[in-house]
Formats: sequence, structure tokens, C-alpha cells
Amino acid sequence: MRHHDTAGHRHDPTASAGQPGQPDVGDETARFWEEHYGRNERVWSGRANPILVEVATPLPAGTVLDLGCGEGADAIWLAGRGWRVTAVDVAETALARAAEEATAAGVESRIEFRRHDLTRTFPPGEYDLVSAQFLQSPLELPRAQLLQSAARAVAPGGRLLIVEHGEVPPWGRHDHAHARFSTPSETLAVLDLDPDRWDTERLDAPRRQATGPHGETGELVDHVVLVRRTR
Ligand SMILES: C[S@@+](CC[C@H](N)C(=O)[O-])C[C@H]1O[C@@H](n2cnc3c(N)ncnc32)[C@H](O)[C@@H]1O
Repeated sequence: MRHHDTAGHRHDPTASAGQPGQPDVGDETARFWEEHYGRNERVWSGRANPILVEVATPLPAGTVLDLGCGEGADAIWLAGRGWRVTAVDVAETALARAAEEATAAGVESRIEFRRHDLTRTFPPGEYDLVSAQFLQSPLELPRAQLLQSAARAVAPGGRLLIVEHGEVPPWGRHDHAHARFSTPSETLAVLDLDPDRWDTERLDAPRRQATGPHGETGELVDHVVLVRRTR
């Protein structure tokens, strides 16, 4: 299993995909997500995403790539269960918060936080689990390219887990109310996987009760795709 030798470093905002110096980050993307995280001291709940917990709990700990890790709750939960985590996001503020939380949780030695604009660079290596949890953006994301890169980063025997909103959350922005989300089957089709090398383990749209950013409760629909690379 290949993994970065530098795992365990605190967040290094200058780290990029194999090249020293500034990461290659789009201005609009950086500005949008910095503003998003800058509005509040903490944006997300701090709890690991439930479908990730469900999927990863029975798996043996290995290496994991967390795409769009935000404030790091999934990365910290995984590291706490023995996984070696590479966690990437475009937002420096989110990465700094995540690194601080990882240190507070005593798991910083098992997480490498890296800054990537995934529309421009993708972390190298192969992983036992690649996780994309709500890697969704109001800005342009080359979704097919990104998800196919995620699949290429899965080691033989490893898994790719994609969880996305299936509907706008009840507390979501009204101007997104008519947004159309890809179904799990459409997402699977976008991955364009070789059926001789991949098994589909989950393709569903479970509903769950959740709490919004201001304490409001409501029902969410998650679109879940879990595929396993057989060889
Ligand atoms: C909806 S949030 C989800 C965060 C986290 N995975 C979670 O479930 O709480 C989307 C995350 O993707 C990140 N993101 C959006 N566009 C990105 C890009 N082009 N490259 C890297 N990260 C990006 C954002 O900064 C944000 O942290």
C-alpha cells in the first residue's frame, strides 16, 4: 500500500501535489470557501458523517483519502480508529481548524492535511478508502473528472465512498430549492468503472433526521455510492 511518507505533518498550506511552493488554487474557489468558513467560528457539527461511520466501522484500518475534508471531523474520527489519513481541502481556514482539532484529539500523527484545489491538482497515491462526503459546491466542479480521479486513487481491494445531498437540506438556501442532484445510479455511471474490476456494494438514498447549523431539525436525503476495486 502506498502512502505519503510525510503523514503526520500539521497543516502545511503551501503543500501541493508533488511541487514545492504555492498550491495551484483558483481565486474564485479560494475566496468563496474562505468566506464560507470565515462567517462562523465553526461551520460543521464536528461529528463524523453517519454513512462514513456506517461503512468504515467494519473495515480494517488502512489508508484513507478524505476529499473536501472541511473542518476535519471525518479525518479525526478515522484517525481515532487507526486509519492513516490524507485529508485535503481548498479552504485554509478549514484546514487550520481541522489540524487544531486533530491535535486536541491526539491523532495529529496519523493525519496529513493538504491544501488542494481539486479542480486543479489531485493528491498522488493509492488508498484503501477514498471518501468524498458532500464534495459539492455552488461553484463549477468538473464532477466527472474529479470522481474518476477519486476512483483511480483506490488501491486494489479498496473502496470509494461518495455521499452527496439528494435534496437541498430544509435549512438550505432557497435559491437552491430547484437544484437537481444526480441520483446514485447517475453518479455510478459518471465513474465509468470497468465491471471486471469493480463491484458495487451500495447504491441507495437513505433518509435521516439531522440538525442544521442553527439547531433546527429536519429530514435529509443522502445519495450513496460505495464501490470496491476487486483487482
Ligand atoms: C459541503 S462541504 C463538506 C465538508 C465535509 N466533507 C463534511 O462533510 O462536513 C464541501 C467541502 O469541499 C471543499 N471544496 C469545495 N471545492 C473544492 C475544491 N475545488 N477543491 C478542494 N476542496 C473543495 C470546501 O472547502 C468544503 O470544505
